Parts: sequence; C-alpha cells; structure tokens
Amino acid sequence: MLHRLIFLFFWHLVDGVKIMSVMEGDSVTLHADVSGTSRYTFFYLQRWIGPENNRIAEVNWIENEIYKIIYYNERFRDRFPIDNQTGSLTIRNIRTTDSGLYRKYARGYNESFHVTVYAYLPNPVISRDSLNSSSSSCSVLCSVLNVSAVSLSWYKGNSLLSSISVSDLSFSLSLHLEVEHQDKNTYSCVLNTSFTYRTEHLDISNLCLTHPDSIHCCGFTEAVIRLVLSAVVGVAAVAIVVYDIISRRAYF
Ligand SMILES: *[C@@H]1O[C@H](CO)[C@@H](O)[C@H](O)[C@H]1NC(C)=O
Ligand SMILES: *[C@@H]1O[C@H](CO)[C@@H](O)[C@H](O)[C@H]1NC(C)=O
Ligand SMILES: *[C@@H]1O[C@H](CO)[C@@H](O)[C@H](O)[C@H]1NC(C)=O
Ligand SMILES: *[C@@H]1O[C@H](CO)[C@@H](O)[C@H](O)[C@H]1NC(C)=O
Ligand SMILES: *[C@@H]1O[C@H](CO)[C@@H](O)[C@H](O)[C@H]1NC(C)=O
Repeated sequence: MLHRLIFLFFWHLVDGVKIMSVMEGDSVTLHADVSGTSRYTFFYLQRWIGPENNRIAEVNWIENEIYKIIYYNERFRDRFPIDNQTGSLTIRNIRTTDSGLYRKYARGYNESFHVTVYAYLPNPVISRDSLNSSSSSCSVLCSVLNVSAVSLSWYKGNSLLSSISVSDLSFSLSLHLEVEHQDKNTYSCVLNTSFTYRTEHLDISNLCLTHPDSIHCCGFTEAVIRLVLSAVVGVAAVAIVVYDIISRRAYF
C-alpha cells in the first residue's frame, strides 16, 4: 500500500470510452482523434458535449483547421479551450464538479471520455492527545478536515494497525494511537482515496518525550508572568515601606 505510486493522470479504454482520472486543480486534455475524420471529410462539424448533456462548443472544420466557431457556451469558454489544429478540448484547473462523461461528435466519428476528478487530499495532521496521555504511554491523534470517500489508517512499519473509512463528507475525521514513550518503531498515518494517498510520519521523540503537563504552551509563560508580577509587587511594597520610614524620619 505504501509503495503504491501516486498517479496524477492516467487513462484506459472500456468499451470505447476513455476512462480518465485526474486530480482537482490539474489541466486535462481530451485528445480528439482527428485521423478518423479529417482524412475522409473535407468539411465537417465538431461538437463537444459535457456532463449532463451540456453543450460546450460546436465548431466547423475545413480539413485541418477550425473554420468557424458556431457556438461556445460562455460557462466553458475560458476554462475549456479547443485547440485550433487538433480539435482537442482542454479543461483547465479542473474541479470535482467537472466529473462526468464528455463526448465529441464529428461527422462519422464519435469519441467518449469519462473523467473522474479526485478532490485534492490534504496532509493528515498528527497531534498529541494530551488529556489522554499517561506517564508510560503517549496518546496521539491523526486528524484531517473536510474529506469524503477516504480511509484514514495508522501503520506500524508496513503493517496496518487501525483504519476508518468514510464515504460522505466528513468535517473532522481522526484516529487514535497509543505508543510507548521509548518506542523505536516507525509509525505513519495514511490518508487515502482509491486514487492517491498522503502520509505523515509520527515523530515520537518530539511529540511524546515531554510530560503532558509541561507541553501546555502557556504554562511556562504564565509562571514567568506570575514571577515578574510578584517581584514588581514585592519591590513596590519595599519601596512604600522605605518611603514611609524616610518620610517619618523627615518629620521627627
Ligand atoms: C485559434 O482560433 C481562434 C479563433 O478563430 C483565433 O482567435 C486564434 O488566434 C487561433 N489560434 C491559433 C494558435 O491559431
Ligand atoms: C455519433 O453520435 C451521434 C449522436 O449521438 C449519432 O447520431 C451517430 O450515429 C454516431 N456516429 C457513429 C459513427 O457512432
Ligand atoms: C484514550 O482515548 C481513547 C478513545 O479516544 C481510548 O480508546 C483509550 O483507551 C484512551 N487511553 C487512555 C490512556 O486513557
Ligand atoms: C471545511 O468546510 C467548511 C464548510 O464548507 C469551511 O467553512 C471550512 O473553512 C473548511 N475547512 C478547511 C480546513 O478547509
Ligand atoms: C485506501 O486503501 C486501502 C488499501 O489499498 C483500500 O482498501 C481502501 O479502499 C482505500 N480507501 C478508499 C476510500 O478508497
């Protein structure tokens, strides 16, 4: 699992449909195969249809060049340019809502592309669960926000320790792990979809070595402030006493 490659982009054919998987934010080009059309047809109409039968564009071609753009859906014009020479459609900065079936009709030659856009995966965050730690063990949490269709897992080396999966949008997902302070094993938290994954390694020595009480950020600062305040109050008290003595002496 940990050795699986991250594919930013790949495709394969199923029943003549090009199945494509891309990551949110990438640009993807739906390559129109011109060999099927231009060779046999001098003048023809090319039509691109998007998900939910949205018309994207209709273009007249003469041999190997766009002759005239007949129709371009304003919604798609900027992000979905058509190449003048090849007729290929590019989707820039692709969103998860761009997922679906794209079809290209040209006289005598149709092509279909099924595009699945995978949401950008954040890195999981490992933090100490200080309320729950004891002197012998260290309790940590691996968390991630705003994810859907993911699994979150703890690995010890390459073996799976625990895992949870969600299919719907989850605002906050976290998985608990208990380790010994002196544990020398490698632990990692993995967030994955069926398409890609993110890994975060647990740094026991940094996260767990200090006692839970002293990792609280403000404990030390608070102590210093108290010390300074009591010193100021102390000095002030002494000053008042001294001033009092001096002024009494001045009167008598
Ligand atoms: C592609 O066609 C459009 C519209 O006809 C034109 O404005 C643009 O300059 C052309 N681009 C190239 C690279 O030929
Ligand atoms: C291409 O698609 C159009 C529209 O659905 C259809 O009428 C036509 O028969 C198709 N052509 C081929 C060769 O499949
Ligand atoms: C910490 O909390 C988890 C549940 O969140 C629980 O399973 C675990 O036993 C607790 N550990 C300790 C040391 O209290
Ligand atoms: C998670 O989603 C909520 C609601 O859509 C949003 O307000 C929040 O900023 C998101 N948080 C992150 C870390 O993306
Ligand atoms: C994450 O990876 C595991 C192992 O490869 C797989 O079984 C699981 O289905 C994946 N999770 C999702 C949400 O696809």
